Amino acid sequence: MIELIKGNIIEAKTFGDPAITQNGYLAAKDGVVLGVFSALPEQYANLPVTDYSGQLILQGFCDMHLHAPQYPMLGMGMDLPLMDWLKTYTYKTEARFADSDFARGTYQRLAAELVKNGTTRVCIYSSTHADATRILMQELERAGIGGFAGKVNMDRDSCECQEGTEESKRETLRWLEECAQFKKIKPILTPRFTPSCTNELMGWLGKLAEERGLYVQSHLSENYKEIELVKRLHPDCEQYWQTYDKYGLWKEHTIMAHCVHSDAREQQAMIDHNVLCVHCPDSNINICSGFAPVRQMKNRGVWLALGSDIAGGAQLPMLQVITGCLRMSKARAIATDGAEPFLTVGEAYYLATSAGARYFGDRDGFAPGNPLHAVVVSDASMPPSARTLSVQERFERAVYLADDRAITAVYGNGQKIK
Ligand code: GUN
Ligand code: FE
Repeated sequence: MIELIKGNIIEAKTFGDPAITQNGYLAAKDGVVLGVFSALPEQYANLPVTDYSGQLILQGFCDMHLHAPQYPMLGMGMDLPLMDWLKTYTYKTEARFADSDFARGTYQRLAAELVKNGTTRVCIYSSTHADATRILMQELERAGIGGFAGKVNMDRDSCECQEGTEESKRETLRWLEECAQFKKIKPILTPRFTPSCTNELMGWLGKLAEERGLYVQSHLSENYKEIELVKRLHPDCEQYWQTYDKYGLWKEHTIMAHCVHSDAREQQAMIDHNVLCVHCPDSNINICSGFAPVRQMKNRGVWLALGSDIAGGAQLPMLQVITGCLRMSKARAIATDGAEPFLTVGEAYYLATSAGARYFGDRDGFAPGNPLHAVVVSDASMPPSARTLSVQERFERAVYLADDRAITAVYGNGQKIK
């Protein structure tokens, strides 16, 4: 079936200014993009059009790093640094997901919030619980969200979340068997971070990743105390990334969240192995991790996308993650007297959409062949402007001002999900 939607189409085709098609048409067949057209192509002239004239049609957002079982503690413990925050709030909260009923209710709410805010694909952490992870995947898929989800592995220094090594392996295999039922949400191996996994478990996960062709997600160089701890645990490794590499976890499509303190060598290791670095600005500020050198990493050629990292980040909407990213980038520009130029709205929009979509095999923008992921934004209730605004200006304003009430429709994988 061919679907046509009309409006002001804003594509992150490059890391820079968006491509704008004013009063354009976005065509999709069976949920796959056919193209963006400035006038209705003749062959579609007799087909019905869903008319969003006057509204902005953005790409669906990709949240490339967040923790589902931290949703109940959103906004909590924000005066603590990472390691204390984990032990005081986080592990206690995640341990609650042993209760499948609690998991079901929480994950229904979370999935609904993601859709409401235009997030159509995720790379998401669950807790250590295989059953709650299956429930998370069911609720995401039911809501129309795609991507990757992982049962977390943690068999060392993990308080309430501690698993036995054999238990962690067994539960991972049991969870993977159950993943066959899902179409749009796939499993990803998730050793939480080096301090919470024994060498044996890391090695086992690396082998499993290789045998089954699975991707891996974890955390890297987020916080100074964490980095020191990793040095003590792995004195044979000069750098944090090597603790993953040693066990076969540092490879094509591995996702590393944060990388706030990664130096040029660690960044080069990401480039060499096509590792995706996920920048989580709100989290980095909230738990005082630091200011990630995003412009520098981007200039060097690191593959970078954005994540909310709830509940380190307290904002689930990716529009707020974008503005957080811009504010942090400006803080770096100020601190370097402009030597490190700040990111523009268009650049941050790219990081929140096309950069993550590449992880799922898409090409940049609404490229033909991509699954249709789109967010329709109305700016009708925004402040009256003193002159006629260009679509580019309206887009920039919407990035700063739009919340879920301004998002009038969301398409995930070709389906209208809001
Ligand atoms: N490092 C290990 N676990 C976590 C987590 O849950 N959140 C953040 N921000 N960093 C981590
Ligand atoms: Fe995280």
